[in-house]
Amino acid sequence: MKYLIANWKAYITSHKDAKALFKATQASAEASMSEVIICPPFPFIPDVKQNWDMALGVQDVFWEEKGAYTGEVTLEMLKNLNVEYVILGHSERRNYLGETDEVVNKKVKAALKAGFKVILCVGEKERKEENVIPTIVAEQIRADLDGVPKTKIPNILVAYEPIWAIGTGLSDTPENAHQAALYIRKTIGDMYHTKLGVGIKVLYGGSVNSKNVLDFVNYHGIDGVLVGSASAKKDEFTKMIKMVG
Ligand code: 13P
Repeated sequence: MKYLIANWKAYITSHKDAKALFKATQASAEASMSEVIICPPFPFIPDVKQNWDMALGVQDVFWEEKGAYTGEVTLEMLKNLNVEYVILGHSERRNYLGETDEVVNKKVKAALKAGFKVILCVGEKERKEENVIPTIVAEQIRADLDGVPKTKIPNILVAYEPIWAIGTGLSDTPENAHQAALYIRKTIGDMYHTKLGVGIKVLYGGSVNSKNVLDFVNYHGIDGVLVGSASAKKDEFTKMIKMVG
């Protein structure tokens, strides 16, 4: 079973559009064997909840339970909203909001402790040479998972998202994504246990669309895709779901 995860980012800005996109996505997702997970912006979660009986995620969360934290959304607030997944460590938050590995680590630990599943994003800035996976990927994983108990590792999906491939139309090659997946599994295997490394789900993200989605999901060792802009286009994303099946 493959994962098709929609990161709507901030592309959708009205309830009307959110409902329409959600409805179309659900209709295709119900007919598919893939695990389709929608991660809308927070204000659209109630819209989705009314109709959605499949997996739902959010794009960020705060690590404290409650208190004087202006502007933050806590895990506790999400508990009764059918939210199962949290995207953490996305490069847009690392780059535009200054999120450090230390912050990502606090969020990862809090989300896992509260019973959520984490989609942890890692990836390098500059385009690399063929078959060379930058060590930053391992450094991010080691820092972001610092102190995470091994019992929680099966609740993590790692999304390999090279920053140069995000929103640029320049996707990585499936072979490189596969090499990155091996490297990620080895890193987690070294940190915990080979079995946990082998078992972890690794996704690819970065300019995935209907033209290249099958190249990634059909490639050995890639468990699915994390899709940005194409997931916010109704026809494009439903087409992708149908293609993956
Ligand atoms: P694009 O699919 O728009 O390149 O974005 C990828 C991404 O950042 C998903 O989290």
